[in-house]
Amino acid sequence: MPKLAPVDLASPDFKPNAYAIYARLRAEEPVHRTTLPDGRVLWLVTRYDDCVAALKDERLVKDWRSIGVDLFGDDEARMQLDRHMLNTDPPTHTRLRAIVNKAFTPRLVEGLRDRIQGIADDLLDQVQGRGEMDLVADYAFPLPIIVIAELLGVPVADRHRIRAWSDAVIGGVPTRDRIDRAAGMIREFKDYILGMVEERRKAPREDLLSALVHVEEEGAGKLDEKELLSMVFLLLVAGHETTVNLIANGMLALLAHPAEREKLRADPSLMRSAIEELLRYDSPVETATFRFAREDVELGGAVIPKGDVVVVVLGSANRDPALTPSPESLDLAREPNRHIAFGLGVHYCLGAPLARLEGQIAIGTILRRMPNLALKVAPESIQLRPSLLVRGPATLPVSF
Ligand code: HEM
Repeated sequence: MPKLAPVDLASPDFKPNAYAIYARLRAEEPVHRTTLPDGRVLWLVTRYDDCVAALKDERLVKDWRSIGVDLFGDDEARMQLDRHMLNTDPPTHTRLRAIVNKAFTPRLVEGLRDRIQGIADDLLDQVQGRGEMDLVADYAFPLPIIVIAELLGVPVADRHRIRAWSDAVIGGVPTRDRIDRAAGMIREFKDYILGMVEERRKAPREDLLSALVHVEEEGAGKLDEKELLSMVFLLLVAGHETTVNLIANGMLALLAHPAEREKLRADPSLMRSAIEELLRYDSPVETATFRFAREDVELGGAVIPKGDVVVVVLGSANRDPALTPSPESLDLAREPNRHIAFGLGVHYCLGAPLARLEGQIAIGTILRRMPNLALKVAPESIQLRPSLLVRGPATLPVSF
């Protein structure tokens, strides 16, 4: 019998109180059944050990169609964009991932260091004379989107349109109603990506987009058009919606913990473990993407019926005392740190080496160049973006 009232994920009170709610769920009902306003059942998995088990469990699949679940109906544009790695299982997933894996290895990503440093410095040059900025709009958002846009070969000037489209996909709680309202934006996003693909078919360049178009043209069942559009869509969205929150949450945590911040400023060799701790302490991706039970699955004392949605709450796992002592405190030197902010198993974040490098450079540069950075508003007044998937402030006004 359930002990707790179902958590209301759509309530404005949920996000600001999420960590307290997760602590209670971990203690009293670690696998918790709730519903979205449209009636869809979700199971929240909140303990570290159960989250690890769920992310590795082959009975929890990503391709809802393969088990007869209807997630988005038959929205034409969305169907052109949803054949990507996060919506597929092996062997399709294995084939898709192999195509891009090589572009994101730690060695190749390391080659981007100077360019990322240049972007961070340019962005701070633009605001330095002003003495204040919105750390999200002026720094945390542009940095990762410029990096992924340049890598793919997408015009950097389009970043605000891309942000609006991407927000239509991942903002809010994914109810049927919101999905229907986002349909127009998703069609625009699809047409935009298709337009660039067609340009590259005519005139290839030296970019990842052209390389992907080339794979599609080679045929041999390696990548069809829908998979190509979906791949570009996923890289664009996952490449910036996440790292923006690592930078913004990370800076917010450092501003709230001046002694830790001072330690890091005085000893930049702490940066590697600091980024891992910031990923754990306020995880940029709060919940993993939907998984679907292929059969009845027993987990953490609950039985999840076939076809139901399972949501692995990474932000809760990373604050579980079973993971590490004093999980509520920020310790930039924490070792070991086996957080699961990048997920686990076959869908483990493809961009983790890039995200880590972006985080280290972005946070290191701002600490160095703006030693007196301070919040311009009371910490309690900072609004989090409404999204089930990601966690981060909508704006972060600071002075320096
Ligand atoms: C701090 C930044 C980031 C965080 C916290 C993060 C987190 C995650 C997580 C948790 C997953 C697994 C989701 C699931 O299993 O449901 C994932 C997958 C993925 N991420 Fe990231 N990510 C970040 C940055 C990036 C970047 C910069 C890229 C750019 C390429 C990227 C690309 C991807 C892709 C393509 C997948 C799907 C992998 C697959 O299904 O095999 N991520 N990420």
